[in-house]
Amino acid sequence: MAKLSVIGTGYLGLTHAACMASLGHDVIAFDIDEAKIETLKTGKVPFHEPGLDPIVEQEIASGRLTFTTSWEDVAAQADVHFICVGTPQSAYSEAADMSQVRGAVQSLAPLLTRPSLVVGKSTVPVGTAQSIADILVAESPAGADTHLVWNPEFLREGFAVEDTLHPDRIVLGVSHDVDVDTLKDVYATPLAEGTPLIVSDYPTAELVKVAANSFLATKISFINAFADLCDVTGANVTTLADAIGFDTRIGRRFLNAGIGFGGGCLPKDIRALQARAAELGVADQFEFLRAADHINLSRRSKVVELAKAALGGSLDGAKIAVLGAAFKPDSDDIRDSPALSIAGALHENGAHVTVHDPEALHSVRLRYPHLGTADTVNDVLADADIVLHLTEWKEYREIDPQAVKALVKNAIIIDGRNVLDLETWASAGWAITYLGKPGS
Ligand code: UDX
Repeated sequence: MAKLSVIGTGYLGLTHAACMASLGHDVIAFDIDEAKIETLKTGKVPFHEPGLDPIVEQEIASGRLTFTTSWEDVAAQADVHFICVGTPQSAYSEAADMSQVRGAVQSLAPLLTRPSLVVGKSTVPVGTAQSIADILVAESPAGADTHLVWNPEFLREGFAVEDTLHPDRIVLGVSHDVDVDTLKDVYATPLAEGTPLIVSDYPTAELVKVAANSFLATKISFINAFADLCDVTGANVTTLADAIGFDTRIGRRFLNAGIGFGGGCLPKDIRALQARAAELGVADQFEFLRAADHINLSRRSKVVELAKAALGGSLDGAKIAVLGAAFKPDSDDIRDSPALSIAGALHENGAHVTVHDPEALHSVRLRYPHLGTADTVNDVLADADIVLHLTEWKEYREIDPQAVKALVKNAIIIDGRNVLDLETWASAGWAITYLGKPGS
């Protein structure tokens, strides 16, 4: 079994490290954040990802998963190094901030004294892999015996364990002199299950990731544009999505209209791609992504306007209950969350906003101290002038509208995710508004 290191212990890195250990590999996971590593050593996962906690616990106990903040430990103990650090949007432009990737490569390279394989998993602008390969050869003592493979990661938060253990494809980007046998061994279990393996050059592997995320983002904005058309024509966007989704060339997934996409990937990836395309002289061809981004962001202002209209034209002093803060259910990730963007805008317009979320409230209190928070659904609804359903946790679909009606001041709800059952809510006396389909 190969000895692996995983650099970066976020949603991607920690999940990869724990899952690789569960496949039988020895894994040393590195992070520069000492407090996080200390927490991880005790077996505590610092974020919510279904199914991850027991694997981390089990693999620490097996001795296959260890944690460190020492680059020397990483270089001494592993021969295959997975780079799983973040590439968030730059604070100064739409491009990706590559400082964490650069930092990781520059710290690791001088310590690679024996033949090693570095595997890039972070989402990067096309062209990055070749430049990292050059740095590794130039700056590692092992020189040309230090190889790089680009192996993009496609995991979805909320399904990260499943997607890592049973990926729908494995993509390996290589330069002409690098073989993929070591990684075939690392991924022997999913490959034996029949997972398709695609071996390509570096730029293709880098582009697979951004192309996939751009497609998904565009698909969501496509249906959201139709949601607006449905609103002005009286059509129903969910029925429309069902009907076109039966066409197997289109497919029904990622056609759920609502307040649109957020999170740590889709928004920043479509912006980074536009920035990179402009650098490479093909900006015009990617204008559609600007439109996709614009449609997506306009969903948020649309909900603010709908709430304002429902409250008679002013948000000032209104008591607003927000159901959901995470960018999607089964995650506590609030990065670029549409729900919190809407909550923040309502607050700026003078409303008193209280937010509930089953998992993300600790982050909300930290990052959005101006918003109120409530630990239970009943508390968030208490005395509300209007309710906004913004992240489709299962718990919210199970709310009994009849029972909670007595808690609110006005039985008015906007379903920003188009999943609450019209008949149940309307027959309980609620005025319910959807985005792109007739409400009550
Ligand atoms: C995404 C990609 O799916 C994954 O392959 C990649 O590795 C990382 O980026 P993730 O960010 O976890 O994964 O979330 P995803 O499930 O793609 O959802 C993104 C956003 O789109 C969420 O805010 C979700 O609510 C929204 N969405 C999704 C819709 O608004 N409508 C849909 O039909 C689907």
